Amino acid sequence: MLFDNHGREINYMRLAVTDRCNLRCFYCMPESGIEYMDRKDLLSFEEMERLVTIFSGLGIKKLRITGGEPFVRKGIMEFLSSVVQIDGIEKVRITTNGTFTGEKIAQLHRLGIRSVNLSLDSLDRERFFNITRRDLFETVMSTFRSLLDHGMEVKINMVVMEGRNIEDIYPMLELARTHPISVRFIEEMPFNGSNGQGNPSYWPAEKILDHIKIRYADAKTLEDPASSTAKNYKIPGFAGSFGVIAAYTRTFCGTCNRIRITPQGDLKTCLYDDGKISFREMLRSGASDNDIVGALWKALKSRFKDGFEAEKARLQTRPVSESMATIGG
Ligand code: GTP
Ligand code: 5AD
Ligand code: SF4
Repeated sequence: MLFDNHGREINYMRLAVTDRCNLRCFYCMPESGIEYMDRKDLLSFEEMERLVTIFSGLGIKKLRITGGEPFVRKGIMEFLSSVVQIDGIEKVRITTNGTFTGEKIAQLHRLGIRSVNLSLDSLDRERFFNITRRDLFETVMSTFRSLLDHGMEVKINMVVMEGRNIEDIYPMLELARTHPISVRFIEEMPFNGSNGQGNPSYWPAEKILDHIKIRYADAKTLEDPASSTAKNYKIPGFAGSFGVIAAYTRTFCGTCNRIRITPQGDLKTCLYDDGKISFREMLRSGASDNDIVGALWKALKSRFKDGFEAEKARLQTRPVSESMATIGG
């Protein structure tokens, strides 16, 4: 089993398979997009598979595929077919924007992937366009319906933004009245690729919950799964539930069980840190499995206590401002 210097067990790996994306979400990148990495600087699927295999041997049980948008990378379905077979990986999950996901759902289900987190920030076509800068609302909604038709567990990720989608909070909750989904309201973080411009978080978790309780005063607290990012609630009579993710106020760091691999193969032991090790360089310079295991252990033994400590350490070099697409969220 993997443990860090604060006694936290690490069993969840988030793997960003690409920094590319076909949307331009306001909170993630500027309208002009971000400068994508050279293809040769992205990990190859073979390299990713090697890392997953090594880490599963150390106790990583849950693998989340993120991006950018995972389904824009060619060969992703073949990669998924391989990783679901890796010994020790009990759950493979995906976070996607839902624009290319629709026709892949049956195949994902056949691979044993049963849970998808869908980014969806508005239930109104125009507001969706204003946030993502692409007119693909209907496509994403059709993916949403198809995920449910295939019996997938669906969590909706909605980043809450003053002046952009506050009107969507109640309709989003209503979606959980009839559908057995979890709707998660997320604090906006400054990972928007715009060099520290625009500081978000006008809507901290408490404010989101207060707003919800104005209309749904009887929402009940649920017991959260271990190491959950979300605090979860149920409104009596609803088929689904909702959650609030304090991604910016960072109240869940104490139980953080995750590591991240960025598209270029850097290890992050915290979303807010600056990258600890380049596994790409290690892999490409002939490192053995033992070398990689050693490097991971070393990084875990000097892990920051929480996202604030990680952010403070990096502020001396460069502030938090890269796009979420280059980290994997
Ligand atoms: P589950 O595995 O379903 O619990 O989802 P998850 O919350 O781990 O992953 P998802 O990709 O759906 O992320 C939802 C939101 O939580 C995104 O905004 C992520 O950036 C944020 N998030 C995920 N992990 C962390 C973390 O370690 N720290 C912080 N601050 N935010 C995180
Ligand atoms: N702040 C909060 N969440 C974000 N995401 C992307 N960028 C941000 C941000 N700046 C979310 C997306 C996606 C998840 C991986 O991260 O909504 O669902
Ligand atoms: Fe693409 Fe996700 Fe970033 Fe939106 S948040 S631009 S969907 S990577």
